[in-house]
Amino acid sequence: MGLGYIGLPTAALIASRGIQVQGIDVNQSVVDTINSGKIHIVEPALDGLVKNVVEKGLLKADVNPDNADVFLIAVPTPFKGKYEPDLKYVESATRMIIPNLKEGNLFVLESTSPVGTTDKMAKIIFENRPELKGKISIAYCPERVLPGNVIYELEHNDRVIGGLDEQSTIEAQRFYRHFVKGELHATNAKTAEMCKLVENSSRDVSIAFANELSMICDKAEINVWELIYLANKHPRVNILQPGTGVGGHCIAVDPWFIVSEFRKEAVMIRNARVINNYKTEWVIEKIKSTALQFELDNNRKPTIALMGLAFKPDIDDLRESPALLVADTLLFEGKFDLLLVEPNLQKSKKYELTDYNSIDDKADIVAYLVAHKEFGVFETEVIELDFCGIKQRR
Ligand SMILES: NC(=O)c1ccc[n+]([C@@H]2O[C@H](COP(=O)([O-])OP(=O)(O)OC[C@H]3O[C@@H](n4cnc5c(N)ncnc54)[C@H](O)[C@@H]3O)[C@@H](O)[C@H]2O)c1
Repeated sequence: MGLGYIGLPTAALIASRGIQVQGIDVNQSVVDTINSGKIHIVEPALDGLVKNVVEKGLLKADVNPDNADVFLIAVPTPFKGKYEPDLKYVESATRMIIPNLKEGNLFVLESTSPVGTTDKMAKIIFENRPELKGKISIAYCPERVLPGNVIYELEHNDRVIGGLDEQSTIEAQRFYRHFVKGELHATNAKTAEMCKLVENSSRDVSIAFANELSMICDKAEINVWELIYLANKHPRVNILQPGTGVGGHCIAVDPWFIVSEFRKEAVMIRNARVINNYKTEWVIEKIKSTALQFELDNNRKPTIALMGLAFKPDIDDLRESPALLVADTLLFEGKFDLLLVEPNLQKSKKYELTDYNSIDDKADIVAYLVAHKEFGVFETEVIELDFCGIKQRR
């Protein structure tokens, strides 16, 4: 259920083991694309795999589910309102398959979810089909793949599998063994749910420490990159690199699933989110104050190049990107002459992009927002604002 960045590679990998897979998505155009042997997302090696399993008849997409032995849910779990998890997709996917469930089935939730979601889905299932109580297995098994390397990681990463009871865990482990070579670690559903959230929160807290240091060092007039390099010479210290903020649809989102439920206790996790979001605002203010100083010194407005729009280096993904927020905010204010540079995008419907090679001739201020590899070799004579350590890496 759900043929996106997680569901489609998972469906294709399972099908490649000779298992008949029916991929369900509510989006008809996604279904049509897959049935024609093509894909609708950017992910290396996925196109060949999907083409192969579709041609062999092992993967078929549809908008309506059929009967099956195993049901996997990989639909989105965004947040709504004040960072509250929105479970409407998980719930609707669960409700869609309730009529198809039968004795002996396995139901696995893969979507990143707040603690207790698997149990909630079980309650919905048994409210509608009480006769299935004790007759089906229900488990949670989170995904921890790296976009860009999904096919390899799906097969080789360790997985954490938590059933609502022991038998469910065993059944889910048995199923994942068909296509996962990594270890399958057994636990209960709540621990597995929390494990996924904690993995991303841990990254967020570590990055927040580096981002906070970068703002302290700016005030103290200390080079943060040199400072972190030196501090990391301690055998038991490993500080991460600061940046423009934290983006993407996982690290910037999942910690809120803990905060929303454990408001009193999750102080550090909440503060990390606040710091990482604030770092983006801080970057915007830095660019604006540098522009103002330029105008005072030169009696004209500067042209500002924003280097990178993606949420992390060397990808084209703009989801929840702090660099994009910087660009959007400055564009919205309309007071600046901006050049937007994103070497990983050929073209954009929404943004006019500039080739990074032409920046030196056109820009007065160059703000490095994302450490794309192309920028590392780029030399410029103008004012440089380095928020991602690109100059340090030259
Ligand atoms: N993308 C990642 O790198 C990644 C990594 C780890 C975990 N996750 C988690 O995996 C889950 C899925 O993420 P994604 O990136 O694959 O999302 P996505 O947006 O790429 O794909 C989700 C798909 O589900 C479909 N859908 C929505 N409601 C549906 C329903 N009721 N029935 C069937 N299909 C439905 C949508 O049309 C869409 O095609 C999320 O919880 C996400 O947090 C994602």
